Amino acid sequence: MKQFAKYARYYDSIYKDKDYKKEADFVEQLLKSQAKGKIKNILSIGCGTCMHELILEKSGYKITGIDRSEKMVALGKEKLKEAGSKIKLLQGDTSMKSLGTKFDAVVSLFNVIGYQTTVEALDTYLAFSNKHLKKGGLLAFDAWYQPAIVLSRPQNKEISAKDAEGNEFFRKTTSVLDIKKSVLHIRFEIQTENNGTRTTHADESHYMTFFTMKELEIAAQKNGFKLIKSCQPFEIKKDVSEDNWNMWVVMQKI
Ligand SMILES: C[S@@+](CC[C@H](N)C(=O)[O-])C[C@H]1O[C@@H](n2cnc3c(N)ncnc32)[C@H](O)[C@@H]1O
Repeated sequence: MKQFAKYARYYDSIYKDKDYKKEADFVEQLLKSQAKGKIKNILSIGCGTCMHELILEKSGYKITGIDRSEKMVALGKEKLKEAGSKIKLLQGDTSMKSLGTKFDAVVSLFNVIGYQTTVEALDTYLAFSNKHLKKGGLLAFDAWYQPAIVLSRPQNKEISAKDAEGNEFFRKTTSVLDIKKSVLHIRFEIQTENNGTRTTHADESHYMTFFTMKELEIAAQKNGFKLIKSCQPFEIKKDVSEDNWNMWVVMQKI
């Protein structure tokens, strides 16, 4: 089943308490800490509904967003219109040829890189990022750290949230970890409940990968980058940890 086809409608409601501002500010801090010159233009790959991008635009950056999900882009476009934003939002993915522009930085936020589950897809993603960067330009993203995932296995869970009309729904998450393939299969089911009976509105399989630092270093080198920085979320001075699934990484185009 196509990822983010039916799930997209619920996406912003599910993540309404996610601290996008803190993440957008952190990626800005991370980029500034590694940049040699001033960063003005940013390409965001996998921008989804443009939550981080609207904040980065407010912080003064000129943003182009690209996402392969038609539904996420449609929702993003509505939001940009409402906000009077100048963000250029395109539907497409990293297998596209070229956007014909080069940027000071490329970002991918909220485990976009995790969706690149094969060596080929990761290479395609990195090559696409590379060709859209000026020399010395930076690629920053968050990703899952393999040792942390292997040590603390994913849990199945259920959360409830309210959609835009205020109706309650549930998101069931069932995870199967394939360590040999380095892939976590997450099944997202969106359901509503009426008199104890559940109705399913979306049922999607998302496959996500995770990385050792060595794998990222090799992939960087293969695709014209150098991995220059990695750290824990919101902790620029703290090295990645096997106690935390999430890490942030910066690569520089060489
Ligand atoms: C978890 S969502 C994150 C969306 C958004 N960045 C956010 O923080 O809410 C991952 C997004 O990455 C997009 N995506 C994954 N791989 C992609 C690729 N190779 N090219 C373009 N979009 C991609 C998906 O369509 C999806 O919208």
